[in-house]
Amino acid sequence: MTVLNEHTGEPGGAGQEPAHIDETVLRRVADAWPRRATIRTDLDRIAEPGEYDEALPDYPVRLLPFAEHPLFLAAAPEQRQKVLTLAWLVYNERVIAAEEHVANPTFAMIMHGVFPGADGVHLKRAVQQTHVDEVWHTYMHMVAMQRTREVRAVTGEPRYPHTVTYRRLLEADAQASEQWERDLLKLVWTTVSEISVNAYLELLSRDDTVQPLHSLVPRLHARDESAHSSVMVEVAKALYVHLNEEQRRAFTAYLPKALHAFVAQDFEVWPAVLAHAGIARADEIVADCRARSGNGLLVRDFSGIRRIVREMELEDRVDFDFGTE
Ligand SMILES: [Fe+2]
Ligand SMILES: [Fe+2]
Repeated sequence: MTVLNEHTGEPGGAGQEPAHIDETVLRRVADAWPRRATIRTDLDRIAEPGEYDEALPDYPVRLLPFAEHPLFLAAAPEQRQKVLTLAWLVYNERVIAAEEHVANPTFAMIMHGVFPGADGVHLKRAVQQTHVDEVWHTYMHMVAMQRTREVRAVTGEPRYPHTVTYRRLLEADAQASEQWERDLLKLVWTTVSEISVNAYLELLSRDDTVQPLHSLVPRLHARDESAHSSVMVEVAKALYVHLNEEQRRAFTAYLPKALHAFVAQDFEVWPAVLAHAGIARADEIVADCRARSGNGLLVRDFSGIRRIVREMELEDRVDFDFGTE
């Protein structure tokens, strides 16, 4: 990313120096990785997952935006079960898309020196470890999906659209004119993803009403992500210091956009899922839910973004009022 000129920007909105990186956090996280990483400690649990209890649903019905819709409730039990199976696959697709299309390309960019400021040895260790973890997460979710497809004999799945999180990144990318804006968008989307993904994983990680593996995978994944959020806070601080004023303004303007993209309910995926399960008037069901859903959020835990705004000392620069949504 081109840094235009460190000193041409107007005085910062908050009129203060940005928060500085805490190398000791990165060192501690990086040193603990060999003991902590789930790729090391839990490989066997993924390689040989426990029994599949066909009586248990694949996904909790309460998380479906149309769970209470009369047309969904009127559908046959097998049709509703099929929706839950596909909803579980959709849930995993969303995780994998965030890893593969957003986080991993950004970690590669950081390691390749695209962003000035990413050169500390502990920062590089922690980012490379995080990148390894993410590839493993994709693998875990992929294995879980394959198993579901086998056990439930899923054939001919509908084509899922890009996830809402990735669509919004693509939309923002299409409006950006400079390469540095596009790079920064990926960095911000990744930052928000790394500090917020736990809220998404926790939708399932403690749920004992679904297949045990379907809460285990998010639970293991979330364990790695609690380390990643600490890494990403420090990485964001390290890179932010090197942004010029225009880039800092872009960074803080993108943060709430990325968060909204991350927590949104994805209405576009559901019509095809409902139709595939043989449920009539799928478009109408989803349109009703969209109209009635108020804020349209899937994830309501904003502690991650609050944390990064606080730790980066951006309170005065980020238009942030997620607590009231
Ligand atoms: Fe991950
Ligand atoms: Fe992560």
